[in-house]
This record gives sequence, structure tokens and C-alpha cells, in this order.
Amino acid sequence: MPPGPFYRNRQRVGWKLPKIMASLLERWPSLSVPYVDLGARPVRVFSARFDGRQVDVLDEREAAPDYGGNKVRKLEYLLAEAVARGATDLIATGAAGSHHVLATAIYGKRLGLKTHAVLIPQPDHPHVRSQLSAIARECVEVYPTSGPIAAAAQVAWLLSRLRFGATPYLVPVGGSNAAGTAGWLKVGLDLADGMKAGTRPQYRAVYVAVGSAGTAAGLLAGLRLGGATTEVVGVRVVEPFFSRKKRVLRMAKASVDWLRKHGAPVEIPALDGFRLQVGWYAGGYGRTDERIRQVIKTAANAGWALDPTYTGKALGACLEEHTGEPVLYVHTVDGRPDRDDPLPEGLRALLIDK
Ligand SMILES: Cc1ncc(COP(=O)(O)O)c(C=O)c1O
Repeated sequence: MPPGPFYRNRQRVGWKLPKIMASLLERWPSLSVPYVDLGARPVRVFSARFDGRQVDVLDEREAAPDYGGNKVRKLEYLLAEAVARGATDLIATGAAGSHHVLATAIYGKRLGLKTHAVLIPQPDHPHVRSQLSAIARECVEVYPTSGPIAAAAQVAWLLSRLRFGATPYLVPVGGSNAAGTAGWLKVGLDLADGMKAGTRPQYRAVYVAVGSAGTAAGLLAGLRLGGATTEVVGVRVVEPFFSRKKRVLRMAKASVDWLRKHGAPVEIPALDGFRLQVGWYAGGYGRTDERIRQVIKTAANAGWALDPTYTGKALGACLEEHTGEPVLYVHTVDGRPDRDDPLPEGLRALLIDK
């Protein structure tokens, strides 16, 4: 499917019929930001029962036709920004099984952009292997590195190499900067609208995994801009240094600031009612324990395939704190089954023993 229309300064600069109605530009006619329609669908919420506990699920399995999960909503703003800057190549960094790197490569390709991946090791798991082989297929090159410092050095080298003859765009880690976060701010606003109109339950809390923090930050900012007081519970899945409460709040504010700066008539709302839940970290990014394996099994019995790095932990926290009041769990992973494709030899070192 070809990509949808591009907007720059509210001028359509490419492609077929506008689907602008689904974006923030619809809400605020004065807003002027780059945006590209990658096919992100309106939010879908299903009711589910996990071991007798009723939970609403914000289902991102098919968030867009080419690849689901929580990244496409960020990429509709980020990749538009890349194109607006004349980018030819994208540099994306992440862990071996990064959903963000894969989504960037898939949607970048649709826009004619080449993705160079810089990856760091992650505990081995069939889902991670499936992701890694897909990343190898979709990217023009993949650089395995030994960890975050080596990855930063690799990115610096790559940027300077690509500047000869190409225009690289460095995609923020996890797709989380002010522009990427705006994709999830829209989801928060839609949820708040639904609660106000009575078409959605008054949720006590929304549970979402926190990696690079843009998803939780966007939800928080959007809910508060829309006047909802629902608690946002961010379930931390990465190292404490990287994912602090302060970072979520800073990013939520930055996203609203970004909208203001580009013409949206909004004030910064009070960004309270956010809680970082650290009890499901399991000692490391991508690590699991018996509790998480049990949650994954419970979800599978209810027809939901969780990944061990993000959604297994987010749903675990949601079920642990279940009180019977309405809650929303955000299912942020693509819904296609894992594939058992062979891994390129040079990438095996990225999979570490648990
Ligand atoms: C499946 C999944 N869920 C949740 C997240 C966390 O989103 P964020 O990085 O915006 O905190 C990620 C990020 O990589 C993800 O891949």
C-alpha cells in the first residue's frame, strides 16, 4: 500500500486522499506540523477476562496494516519530520528485538527511506529472535554492538559516514521525543473524550509499559488535556537510569509545548496522577521470572499473545492491582505470530543467556 498524504505547514505535499481527520491536525485547525498517514487506525478497545478478572484492552495488535504495536502512532509525526528535513536515510537504535527499530524500517521503506540499525544485546527468546531476523530483512545494514556506549559511538560514526552523499535522520530512541509523543497524546485525548461523552467507562487507571517513555507521557498529556483524571500507571521495563518518573513528566510537558509552539491553542495542564510501577522489572530489560511467565500463560488462555519484555510486565501489574473497578491495559505489541527464520550469523552475539 502506498503511504498516505504528507502535510507540511498544513499544505498537502504528496499522495492521495487526506486521512488528516485521524490526526491532531483535525483537532486544532491552527496546528502546523509535519504529518504522514501511515495507516494508524482509530483506537480499539476490547473487554477481556484474565482468570476471571475483567480488564479493558486498548488493542494495538493491528494499529496499522503493515505492522502494529505502539510505534506507528509516533512514526506518523517522526517520519514526516524526517521527510520534511529532506532525509534519505534513517538511523534507528534499540535492543536486538526492538519493535521500534523494526517499525521504523518497515514504515521508512514505504516512504523510500533506508534504515540503518544499531543494536545492543538482549536476553534470548523466540520473540526476540523473530524480531531480529525481521530487522535484518528490513534494514539496509545492521550494526551489532556490545552495549549502549558502543552503540552511541557507532551512531556517531554512522552519522558522519552517511553525511557524505546522503541526508541521515537520527530517529530518537524508542521514537520518544516531543513529536513522537504527540502520537500518543492523541490517544489520550480520544480516551478522555470517550469518558466525557459516556461512551467509555470512567477508568480508574490506565496501565502501560514504560521503555523510552513516550507512550506513557503522551497518554498522560492527552488525558489531562482532555480533562480526565484517570491515573496513568507506567510499568517500568528498562533500567532505572533511563526511565524515571521525571522523564515521563518532562516528555509529557515537552509534547504539549511542541504543540503550542506549532500553533495548537492549548495550555500546559497539571500533569499529576502518574505513577511509575517498578515491581515488574524482573532485574533487567527483557528478563522474565516465574510471575511473568504465569501472566503470559494466563493471557494466552484468554487469546492474547504477550511479549516477555513489555506487555507481560504491563499486564502483570494491571492484574496484580485489580480491584474490580474499570481499568485499561494498553496492549502495545504487534499481533502477528513469531517466525522461526534463520538468523544471520553475525547477529547471534546479540542474544544473551537469560
Ligand atoms: C511492545 C512495546 N510496548 C511498550 C513499549 C514502551 O513504549 P515507550 O518506549 O514509548 O515507553 C515499547 C517500546 O519499545 C514496545 O516495543
